[in-house]
Amino acid sequence: MRTQVAIIGAGPSGLLLSQILHKAGIDSVVLERKSLDYVLGRIRAGVLEQGLVDMLDAAGVGSRMHAEGHVHDGTELSFENKRHRIDFKALTGKSVMVYGQTEVTKDLVDARQGADAKLIYEAEDVALHDFDTDKPWVTYRKDGVEHRIDCDYIAGCDGYHGVSRASAPQSVLKTFERIYPFGWLGILSETPPVSDELIYARHERGFALCSMRSDVLSRYYVQVPLDDKVEAWSDERFWDELRLRIDEKAADTIVTGPSIEKSIAPLRSFVAEPMKFGRMFLVGDAAHIVPPTGAKGLNLAASDVHYLSQALIAFYSERDGGLIEAYSENALRRIWKAERFSWWMTGLMHTFPDAAPFEQRMQLAELDYVTSSTAGAAAMAENYVGLPY
Ligand code: APR
Ligand code: PHB
Repeated sequence: MRTQVAIIGAGPSGLLLSQILHKAGIDSVVLERKSLDYVLGRIRAGVLEQGLVDMLDAAGVGSRMHAEGHVHDGTELSFENKRHRIDFKALTGKSVMVYGQTEVTKDLVDARQGADAKLIYEAEDVALHDFDTDKPWVTYRKDGVEHRIDCDYIAGCDGYHGVSRASAPQSVLKTFERIYPFGWLGILSETPPVSDELIYARHERGFALCSMRSDVLSRYYVQVPLDDKVEAWSDERFWDELRLRIDEKAADTIVTGPSIEKSIAPLRSFVAEPMKFGRMFLVGDAAHIVPPTGAKGLNLAASDVHYLSQALIAFYSERDGGLIEAYSENALRRIWKAERFSWWMTGLMHTFPDAAPFEQRMQLAELDYVTSSTAGAAAMAENYVGLPY
């Protein structure tokens, strides 16, 4: 088989890239290791920047998002038993869209399957070949049969544990990493959200987040030690702990119910450089991870797709390879700023096991600054709604 762009991974990065290329008349094949049900079963964050909303619209997959998603004009920061609103709209003129990543993925899969169906699930042993030449190719096995795809370019959209970054020449690859000494325990419950907007709460007992998927589906998180086990957290224990960490008003009005999902995720900052190796590109989680504070993971994947799709479209329509050469540099410039914001917000809101009383006071002073100074609030708002591409 031959295609123009072989895409490894059918997460949001791979699917969005494939759909945008399809709209521009560029052919691609997406190879995914897991089944469709597995991919759609993953629960991830759900805050979309305007840039991603615009991309989904341009890709022709925005209608359900506009019908079912919720536009949020601000968020709340809770500390010392009070909530303070950061008004995104007033401070930046922009808002965010609350719509689950699972739903984005579903909409993209529907569009890809409807269009030309070059979406191959349960592709085993994907391997990348000769991307340091101008004739790269990819192999995989499906139902016991070996296949080969010849292509012009390979897009490694296969997440943190994928084969693409692992295939890059390790002598060239540089990685930067920070592991945080805690995780997030998250639950999903069929209860109405406690507030119209998200609440990020800083408390001596640890961080908490009140988020949502819809009017009847809520997502809550509490910071837990890294070695904590989900089994140690009954629903009752979770709700009790959450109530202790949010302001009393929220604690008194929160509606609790049985969890329908419960899991612990570690927090990590990670960047791999460069993001281009000959004719192979890294995109999304394959190249970088952010801690979830600030919900930048999916949005960063989208900005990579923006830079790469523009570069490929310029190459195929005008034979101009300039943006392809600049992909890594352009993508990384924005990635590092989002890494900085996610790291900053994580540091601002969490309890660090080794923090001295001085550092705790610094956290509170910074929260006071962010919520009482227009300049402080604007800096947070500008980053939260998303820096320009
Ligand atoms: N071969 C084929 N597919 C693979 C391979 C492989 N060797 N390894 C991994 N994959 C698939 C995974 O099964 C997954 O479906 O690649 C996909 C990568 O998807 P994501 O991990 O969702 O990464 P990405 O598409 O970049 O999306 C980034 O997802 O992880 C969140 O926080 C992150 O919201 C961000 C978004
Ligand atoms: C979520 O709803 O899962 C969510 C929202 C905001 C975050 C992280 C996760 O910062």
